[in-house]
Amino acid sequence: MTATDAPPLVPAAEPGTADLRVAVLGVGLMGADHVARLHRRVSGARVAAVSDAATDRADQVAAEVPGCRVVPDPLAAVADPEIDAVVVASPGRFHEEQVLACIDRGIPVLCEKPLTLEAASSLAVVRAEDAYAARTGGRLVQVGFMRRFDPEYAQLRELIASGGIGEPLVVHCAHRNPAVPPGVTTESVVNDSVVHEVDVARFLLGEEIAAVTVLRPRSTRHAAEELSDPLLVLLETTGGRVVDVEVFVSTGLAYEVRTEVVGEDGSAMIGIPQGLVRQSAGPGGAVRGTTVPAGFRERFATAYDLELQRWVDAARRGTVDGPGAWDGYAAQAVCAAGVEALLCGRRTEVRMEQR
Ligand SMILES: NC(=O)c1ccc[n+]([C@@H]2O[C@H](COP(=O)([O-])OP(=O)(O)OC[C@H]3O[C@@H](n4cnc5c(N)ncnc54)[C@H](O)[C@@H]3O)[C@@H](O)[C@H]2O)c1
Repeated sequence: MTATDAPPLVPAAEPGTADLRVAVLGVGLMGADHVARLHRRVSGARVAAVSDAATDRADQVAAEVPGCRVVPDPLAAVADPEIDAVVVASPGRFHEEQVLACIDRGIPVLCEKPLTLEAASSLAVVRAEDAYAARTGGRLVQVGFMRRFDPEYAQLRELIASGGIGEPLVVHCAHRNPAVPPGVTTESVVNDSVVHEVDVARFLLGEEIAAVTVLRPRSTRHAAEELSDPLLVLLETTGGRVVDVEVFVSTGLAYEVRTEVVGEDGSAMIGIPQGLVRQSAGPGGAVRGTTVPAGFRERFATAYDLELQRWVDAARRGTVDGPGAWDGYAAQAVCAAGVEALLCGRRTEVRMEQR
């Protein structure tokens, strides 16, 4: 199910309550999906403006939303007095200036991951938002780690918090894509794919990552030249727990994201597709199975819905109800250590400032 073919998530907001007027910066794959969700599925907000370096793309997306304007300059959209909140879905290198502009104006911003491209610039965003919070008591920045809103991840976290499997000791993660576009490098796999597992580990275990090791097993013959695929990434937490991540982006099969937490008194796993189970003819006789999602938009459709709805609800109350700037910074600091570990082939400690 995509953002456009599902029924609205919740009934429309009470008549008379003003909708949040949102500008979406960058309307490529993710931004256009966010526009469609805000328009069709989320209540309490409307897409008032879109901005994209490709103006034909912006025109095309705006044409789907009555009353939506195209504002060619993204910073002019942030400064526009008729905009109350911003979704940043431009390429990562533009996030820093666009998010800082939102903080300067004091309006809520949902920024797609990564918060910024480097840990130092992410820390600058944290500090800018902290200064705003010290003045006003409010928070403005949410980062697009949507897995936190996925019902299975939320359930797993609750189970751990309730003590249902005892003290968590080890987490096993698998992150597999059927294929990746040309130009994807081993470093970008750490920054763009492993970053989600980093956030999941911090979310589930409630502690920071202290060190990263990256192993490069024999590569699949399906991987693009120069790409080490799969990778095994080991994350050590400050509490002595270990998270192993198999990230494999050229499986040729489907999109699979699996997480198992092993505790002192039991274990729990999520990410096993459990829809319709069908039996049909296979090469060696009858086979039994279910459909595996083709991509992240299908697998995490509900998570994106809930992420946006809760962002809108919180923004209208003047708060943030999701991963914040610190989570964006922590993930960048771990990814920086991950890239260093990948390049030097050794265990690398994460360098993080105090909160
Ligand atoms: N949370 C997730 O699951 C998830 C999944 C995919 C991508 N992302 C993130 O979303 C962001 C966008 O990724 P995408 O896959 O949609 O990329 P994309 O290339 O499909 O879209 C990016 C769009 O931004 C436009 N753009 C370029 N410069 C701009 C600028 N200065 N201001 C505004 N727009 C500009 C481009 O023309 C393009 O239309 C990235 O940060 C990416 O990491 C998150």
